[in-house]
Amino acid sequence: MILKIKKNDIPPNSMVEMYFQNGKPWERKPVLVVNYKGKFFALEPFCTHDGLSLEDGFITDDGKIVCPWHGSVFDIQTGKVVDGPAKRDLKVYKVIEKEKEVEIYE
Ligand code: FES
Repeated sequence: MILKIKKNDIPPNSMVEMYFQNGKPWERKPVLVVNYKGKFFALEPFCTHDGLSLEDGFITDDGKIVCPWHGSVFDIQTGKVVDGPAKRDLKVYKVIEKEKEVEIYE
């Protein structure tokens, strides 16, 4: 599946939960799209600690996502756990940036 978004939909240094669509609404699959300093990344949207949403977490200046619930820290580019309590890395999705659009591949 491919998710296409407009770059302008996500301001720099913010992240939004979006969905891969597979035809039927109940088959949609969430993905966290991150604009980090103008570059786009896509990751699994739920923290691997307790499965809670990362969307309301924050982005650090050195490229990490901090979970808003218990403070786990993940690398935006690789999804790797930088600090717990989470132990498993986040899945990352392939992203291709076009001039005004971003394509995310499941
Ligand atoms: S759910 Fe993210 S640190 Fe607990």
